[in-house]
Amino acid sequence: MDRLKSRLLLLSIAFLMVFCGGSPPAEDTSGETEDQVTLIFAGAPSGRELEVTVEALRRFMTANPDIRVYMRPTPDFYPERLKLFQDLLADGFPDIDVYQIDVVWTSAMAEHAVDLKQYVSETDLQQHFATIVDNNTVDGKLVGLPWFTDAPALFYRSDLLEKYGFEGPPTSWDELELMASRIQAGERREGNLGFWGYVWQGLAYEGLTCNALEWQASAGGGNFLDAEGKPSLRNSKAQQAFNRAANWVGRISPPAVIEWAEEESLLSWRRGDAAFMRNWSYAYADSKRSPIAQKFDVTKMPQGEGGTAAVLGGWQLMVSKYSRHPDAAARLIRFLASEEEQKRRAIEISHSPTLKSLYEDPEVLEAVPFFRDFDQTLLYAVRRPSSRAATKYGEVSEAYWSAVQRVLRGGNSAIELRQGERRIAEIMGN
Ligand code: GLC
Repeated sequence: MDRLKSRLLLLSIAFLMVFCGGSPPAEDTSGETEDQVTLIFAGAPSGRELEVTVEALRRFMTANPDIRVYMRPTPDFYPERLKLFQDLLADGFPDIDVYQIDVVWTSAMAEHAVDLKQYVSETDLQQHFATIVDNNTVDGKLVGLPWFTDAPALFYRSDLLEKYGFEGPPTSWDELELMASRIQAGERREGNLGFWGYVWQGLAYEGLTCNALEWQASAGGGNFLDAEGKPSLRNSKAQQAFNRAANWVGRISPPAVIEWAEEESLLSWRRGDAAFMRNWSYAYADSKRSPIAQKFDVTKMPQGEGGTAAVLGGWQLMVSKYSRHPDAAARLIRFLASEEEQKRRAIEISHSPTLKSLYEDPEVLEAVPFFRDFDQTLLYAVRRPSSRAATKYGEVSEAYWSAVQRVLRGGNSAIELRQGERRIAEIMGN
């Protein structure tokens, strides 16, 4: 998408603006009094997450009557959103003050960010997981304030495990395959022809990068960009892991899984059409509001030869250095990332807090019991190589997910992975 198209897209979604407390258009500042500033927040939420975020913005405005906040919805499709943000920032776009950015975008966006160190004390920062603060610090600049983090879990149908005589959830990929195929065969025999063993995210986008890196790392195949910045997709362990996943498609996973992102897998799971699902922690709250609410539980991702691997995800709040109101914007993000607000999000929509203390909070644990040891998963989560690839991360990740997708679609893995490695080496200039 070129810049002009980005701008057009932005204008076309302007009418969708959510004003927290009314609905004037974005650029309408008529209701603004002289000592009021208007902030625009480019966030990504939808559904219940949108409601919870809008409620938070309302609370902020009540406590800060001198600030009005509009939320600008952004494209749902991840690569489009990243491209739009990059184009707007490259243009020095002054009308968006706060961006919600992915944990893997911090290096790429660093040059456009206000250094938040001037607004957040060292003591406050230490309350967050050090790995995330470290991730968000680029050349000494704090690019984003951690808002919520993410790591995947394996969701499983406890009722079906019991029905088919399994004592507990799978701990390895081999066990997962075995249980998924037995349960699937049994359910189909009983007439549920649309039932599948295992659903995940195979669509060609960032979500596939996360799934694929978990397969690769848990097989002992390392990361797709090694410590020297060299691609590594074709080592025998990684290759076997991708072949294994390709083998699931059409057997224990629906053929359409290669067109599915998080939402599609969640839909199938919530309907009761899958025995296992890989998804981020937010899927817990959604599953608790579904027909299978009392029939599931969650556990760690299965192990391969290299142990279990969960990719670190999550979203940060960044203040644009082109904002006309950086101080007010910093006030807003400090509020959103505060303990009170993170706690609310954890309870309402099972977003994993970035504040360590909330993993011991009785109310949080009551709402989301698996958070009890989730901090350990987060601590050892596998990081995508976004710091190593910096501004090239988007392209590198795209080359990775594209190569893996071709394998999932039945391509020859040796050829496809070699091609993927060549493409990544070309992008990285080595
Ligand atoms: C989740 C994660 C994010 C990841 C994305 C991929 O939103 O928090 O880090 O990039 O999923 O789909």
